[in-house]
Amino acid sequence: MKLKTLAFAAALVAASAAQAQGAKLKVGLMLPATGTYAALGTAIENGFRLYVGEQGGKLGGREIEFVKVDDESDPAKATDNVNKLIKRDNVDVLVGTVHSGVAMAMAKVAKDTGTLLLVPNAGADAVTGPMCAPNIFRSSFSNWQPGYAMGEVVAKKGHKNVVTITWKYAAGDESVRGFKEAFEKAGGKVVKELSLPFPNVEFQALLTEIAASKPDAVYTFFAGGGAVKFVKDYAAAGLKKSIPLYGAGFLTDGTLEAQGADADGLLTTLHYADSLGNARDNAFRLAYAKAFKLQPDVYAVQGYDAAQMLGIGLAAVKGDVSKKAEIAAAIEKAKIDSPRGAFSVSKSHNPVQDIYLRQVSGKENKLVSVASKSLADPGRGCKL
Ligand code: BEZ
Repeated sequence: MKLKTLAFAAALVAASAAQAQGAKLKVGLMLPATGTYAALGTAIENGFRLYVGEQGGKLGGREIEFVKVDDESDPAKATDNVNKLIKRDNVDVLVGTVHSGVAMAMAKVAKDTGTLLLVPNAGADAVTGPMCAPNIFRSSFSNWQPGYAMGEVVAKKGHKNVVTITWKYAAGDESVRGFKEAFEKAGGKVVKELSLPFPNVEFQALLTEIAASKPDAVYTFFAGGGAVKFVKDYAAAGLKKSIPLYGAGFLTDGTLEAQGADADGLLTTLHYADSLGNARDNAFRLAYAKAFKLQPDVYAVQGYDAAQMLGIGLAAVKGDVSKKAEIAAAIEKAKIDSPRGAFSVSKSHNPVQDIYLRQVSGKENKLVSVASKSLADPGRGCKL
């Protein structure tokens, strides 16, 4: 190619890059708007929008435009949904989702296409384990984290035999696995692992089995609408009085209005609590309540922090989303100023964070103590 032609081509590339940076940045929000996790999707979107709004609608100097897909928490539709966002809507960045099975499909497409993916909830261990990638980050937790922390708490309480009950999919399986790892390391025994398919809420037969087994305690993972029904059914079966119930904090986060007195006193572990009282959290809670006429929950925090992470990455490249390595490097070295307390990400891009022990009191998950300080997911199988 002649020198003049080369110079012309280079000028064209530079012009189109500049134009792209001036253009709106398209964020593909893939979240559930229907089904048992619908409220979780709304809280994540609210949190994300709150942070973007606080930055004047821009991240890295670029105005943010949202394209939304309801993923219905259905793994069977996940690959089609994420491909629509990437190929039809040409999104620059993907944000999603709540359900671990759907998130794994998103992670596969993100890895194959190199699209930046921020996971604002789904805890699938694989996303920051064997499926980890330079362009995939999580603002939430791994399923292992709250489970592991609760395994230590329940062992310290002196319980020896525990029955677990959850939905049979990655989130439930991995939450129980984390619990069991810590609990059995400390000398306890998981004597029975009960499960039912997601999002089934016919708990009666399994509750009868728990009553017959008479364990010292029960550990559970449920979330959203299913968690509301489980807590109410557990109490209605008379079990709340006789067999202590412990859970990953999703059991009582964003659900207390509907669970009422049946949730009172429950102990759970999570990376957020309603009464942290730090200045960052106080400001966030005030702004969220003002904007949405609702109290925030852990999902809102995770959405807010996903937007913060994107903002940090984009600021480092002045909005040029094609500079993937620089975006990743900026997030990797950042301390994210979260309402949960500041955190950074591990080598596999999962938050290293305090896991709190909380107790339900009225409409709040009140802080009891730090169950596990700076807990990092082991990132097993991640080669980054
Ligand atoms: C999950 O599928 O990973 C999940 C869903 C709701 C709450 C927490 C985790």
